[in-house]
Amino acid sequence: MDVQERDFIQHLFGKHISHGQVRYLRCAHLDVYERNRKGATFIDAVSGRQFFDCFSSAGCFNVGRGNEVVMDVLKNALDSHDTGSHLVLSEHKVNFASRLASLCPGDLNRVVLCASGADACAGAIKLAKGATGRNDVITMNKAYHGHEGYSLSANGKDYYKELFLPLMPGFHIVDFNDLEAVRRLASKDIAAIVLEPIQGEGGIHVATGDYMKGLRQICDEHGIMLIFDEVQTGFGRTGTLWAMEHYGMTPDIMFTAKSISGGLYPNGAVVYREIEPLVRYVEANPLFHTSHGGGTDLGCIVSSAVLDYIVENRLWENAATVGKRFKEGLEQIARENEDCVKEVRGLGLMIGIEYKYEFIGALMADCLAKQGVWAVYSGNAPQVMRFQIPITASQEEVDELLRRIRAAVRVMRWYLILLLPLAKVPPIRMILDNLHVQIVAFNLVRDIEELILRFIPKK
Ligand SMILES: Cc1ncc(COP(=O)(O)O)c(C=O)c1O
Repeated sequence: MDVQERDFIQHLFGKHISHGQVRYLRCAHLDVYERNRKGATFIDAVSGRQFFDCFSSAGCFNVGRGNEVVMDVLKNALDSHDTGSHLVLSEHKVNFASRLASLCPGDLNRVVLCASGADACAGAIKLAKGATGRNDVITMNKAYHGHEGYSLSANGKDYYKELFLPLMPGFHIVDFNDLEAVRRLASKDIAAIVLEPIQGEGGIHVATGDYMKGLRQICDEHGIMLIFDEVQTGFGRTGTLWAMEHYGMTPDIMFTAKSISGGLYPNGAVVYREIEPLVRYVEANPLFHTSHGGGTDLGCIVSSAVLDYIVENRLWENAATVGKRFKEGLEQIARENEDCVKEVRGLGLMIGIEYKYEFIGALMADCLAKQGVWAVYSGNAPQVMRFQIPITASQEEVDELLRRIRAAVRVMRWYLILLLPLAKVPPIRMILDNLHVQIVAFNLVRDIEELILRFIPKK
């Protein structure tokens, strides 16, 4: 793809989809066109440069970009299948549901088939409300569960919600890892407590063992359903098949999506315990949560193949070993840059770097893109950059990724010579941290850069 073609696509994207999205990506050199999607990398069609995919569509590509094994299963299925009617019984739905249940701990045995993460979140909350006959739900500050209905109401960031008020009633937001805040709200009015064991969009915050144990206790005392969102943390990402395994405990309901699709055919699921109120509610209301896109035959065939692939290759073990090496490398970089990095945290290959200033997130995304690393900061925490490469990544790939991150940091330090002293002045820091200012300023720099490039003769 040449530059003229790229500019024309961006023009059309802006015209028909969103100018804002083009400007947001363009300003940090993230306006790539993915080709040769393979494992942990893809090639940008315009520059021809290889990129490490550190975003993975927010955790959709655990089995790697363009996984050929799963792709072949999908190609074969397309010869004789379509989505199937969502009301009809099918061996593919059963195969997937039983395989998924067999891989979940404890008595998490029963499955509601869904279309996406937000859909699964809604299904989980509806199940808890239906089974308990209660209305209220406790969720976490900075949490992200999706962009619609119940999932939007469950989010812990006002920015996503304030334009759409009133949302679903009865949602109470508390700080993550603050057990006393949950205890104060716990009562016979609460249907569910919903949380990600490791917050993704919230900036890679890991729930503590004591917090999780405390939540389980509170739920048992008050008959509240404990719900884990394993949309990002599931399928080996954190070094175990499910993040809940780090805590040696089982929620009443778990929901998941994203990597279940193999990055090929969207799917989602709620898995719930075989306990009386939940089973009774579903048996009395079998269609309490259904849609034509939830649990399609094609989706279930692909998801079963994804589960097989993850188990056969024990991908969670790779996430643990490669993740440890990656995290240690990032920690070393953090130690060398103490003036701008606050902390590195995470489990397995779900790792975040927290910077001391928000504006560093945007600056670093730009510097990384120029080194062939596609990474963005967290939606609910701009000062935290997430690294979630496919968990098929090898040690050599992670070493190369670390080398590129180091190179990006070296370039960023030139900008920081000017910006760090300025950031110490509060009104200037407010301007630097403002997303709109960043988009305007970085796009201006990009315009100048492209103007200069136009006058440099091509080799
Ligand atoms: C933890 C978590 N839950 C739910 C969702 C929503 O998933 P989907 O985009 O499939 O609706 C996301 C998406 O980023 C997520 O990260």
